[in-house]
Amino acid sequence: KTIESLGDLQGKRVLVRSDFNVPLDDDKNITDDGRIRAALPTLKTLLDAGAKVIVAAHLGRPKGKVNPDFSLAPVATRLAELAGVKVTLAEDTVGESAKAAVAALEPGNIVLLENVRFNAAETSKDDAERAAFAEQLAALADVFVSDGFGVVHRKQASVYDVARILPAASGLLVAKEIESLGRAVNNPERPYTVVLGGSKVSDKLGVIANLLGKADRLLIGGGMAYTFLAAQGYEVGTSLLEQDQIDTVKGYLATAKANGVELLLPVDTVVAPEFKPDAPATVVAADAIPADQMGLDIGPKTRELFAQAIATSKTVVWNGPMGVFEFPAFAEGTKAVAEAISSSDAFSVIGGGDSAAAVRTLGFDESTFSHISTGGGASLELLEGKTLPGIAVLED
Ligand code: 3PG
Repeated sequence: KTIESLGDLQGKRVLVRSDFNVPLDDDKNITDDGRIRAALPTLKTLLDAGAKVIVAAHLGRPKGKVNPDFSLAPVATRLAELAGVKVTLAEDTVGESAKAAVAALEPGNIVLLENVRFNAAETSKDDAERAAFAEQLAALADVFVSDGFGVVHRKQASVYDVARILPAASGLLVAKEIESLGRAVNNPERPYTVVLGGSKVSDKLGVIANLLGKADRLLIGGGMAYTFLAAQGYEVGTSLLEQDQIDTVKGYLATAKANGVELLLPVDTVVAPEFKPDAPATVVAADAIPADQMGLDIGPKTRELFAQAIATSKTVVWNGPMGVFEFPAFAEGTKAVAEAISSSDAFSVIGGGDSAAAVRTLGFDESTFSHISTGGGASLELLEGKTLPGIAVLED
């Protein structure tokens, strides 16, 4: 259901769930405001329709306790700048401050409720407890718009339960994410290539298992590649290795072969004696990693191999960096993949979290990718083929 399905919103109180879980530095400066920018089209649409906009969001995992370190104050300031309207931050989520702020809210302005996760009921596993909190949230508004794509995989009060109480619709961001990721996942133009990176295989087990029946090519880089290399019988030195996943990974290698999925692993790697930005880096073949060195990036031959696979694909999904891109000496692999995707004509989706941050911090033009997702876990669960509670509830 779209925003239009909610009818005339003039003067109506609209509760929007956004994902404002943005990274902050030690001085509480927002280091990547991508998620706030991505929320603007929905908020502007509602403001233009004359709605009174109330936003619920979380920051971090404050574990059900009020904690100023997780306050949405920096978000309120940035949102006011970007949206160009008055944003009032309520001191609580559903208490007296929130009620008073909503009562004083004029159409065309925004009230941002303080971190929903300051309330233990938000993330409770107890359905009744969550529902009771959702009732309090719902009492602040007339209708609900679900636009926090990054949290739609969470069965939480402000994502799931509130949508069962108020008339509910998906916002523009959620609609765009589902359309773009859905196109890649369910109906990809082929060859369909998925590039997976990041540190752990164990975070992506479901994704790999599902893709081995869907994708034409799977390119594996990042820390997780070393468990694949070990499963092939290579020594990986002091690289990240999940010993307990080796048998599972051997199974993946066999399934890939049986299903005719081209599974590309690094053929060379950039190694260093320690995990430090200025550690001396050398390139070695993937089957010749010295015992006292760790792999921190894919090597130049692998970059070339991956770039070629990407260049000849019609659909490319990328999730997870190829190396420790935060250290310039080990950012070349991630850069090469971003470059190859950016210059290809394929329909391309960058999964959220680290790869989206990499694309932005490495200075790529965002418009050269078909879609950059704001979801980390949520986009991975879609790639796993899972039903997301926050989406399913809107379809009910
Ligand atoms: C994210 O950052 O992926 C989302 O905001 C969800 O956060 P969570 O993993 O703490 O639920």
